[in-house]
Amino acid sequence: MSDCPCSPAAIAAALGPLAARFDVEVVAECASTNSQLLARAGSSPSGAVLVAERQSAGRGRLGRPWHAEADASLTFSLLHKLPRGTAPNGLSLAAGVAIAEALRALGTRGVMLKWPNDILRNGKKMGGVLIELASSSAVIGIGLNRRLPAGLPDEVKENAAALDIDIDRNRLLAELLGALHGVLDTFGSGGFAALRDRWSALNAYAGAPVRVISEFAVPVEGICMGVDVDGALLLETPVCVQRIMSGDVSLRPA
Ligand code: BTN
Repeated sequence: MSDCPCSPAAIAAALGPLAARFDVEVVAECASTNSQLLARAGSSPSGAVLVAERQSAGRGRLGRPWHAEADASLTFSLLHKLPRGTAPNGLSLAAGVAIAEALRALGTRGVMLKWPNDILRNGKKMGGVLIELASSSAVIGIGLNRRLPAGLPDEVKENAAALDIDIDRNRLLAELLGALHGVLDTFGSGGFAALRDRWSALNAYAGAPVRVISEFAVPVEGICMGVDVDGALLLETPVCVQRIMSGDVSLRPA
């Protein structure tokens, strides 16, 4: 595996003309790239990117920890200022589209998406997206397994996957940033509706029986009918098609 350390100069070279759209900082370690960028959201420009070789308190969705190891993972966050009047609904799905399409274009096989924020390879979790909002700014956090981190807890390891391509980290990051740039442009002008078909083409559970589980309500089972124009999951139950907003819920195969 190509293990050059991340460097802003190498990322800029791989980005080419798009480098002007990003302000990339690489740190050896921080608690969480999302937390750091959120704290600076008011004073940093759109396009600020923080890459960490290691996170001491990486966070996933629903307050879960995000396990990653230096070299084995790519962990970064991008600050994106939403154009005035743009609702952030579906932003997590939009970011997933960018990552999945970029990985496929690079030759990774079996990449699909699981609503609302998982990047799968061959049905197992290879990465995830964590969106956090601060007024009109969104911090888009991406964690991706380049290899399986050795210290993953067993219950996480069973359902975890890693990239199957040998690619320099700087180029990988540049490809992901380039794809995010394009998708965010589309999202800015047309909202998630403009990306819905692309998300649907990557939906790992299209037409499949699924269970939606939540800490606060009984699980609901139904058929995954895809997503609505705002990114809500459409779940066909025996009584109706329910719209499920992402909130605190998770999706499982039924
Ligand atoms: C999930 O699948 O639950 C989302 C995982 C998101 C992890 C990334 S790693 C970079 C950024 N910083 C964090 O603390 N979390 C996100």
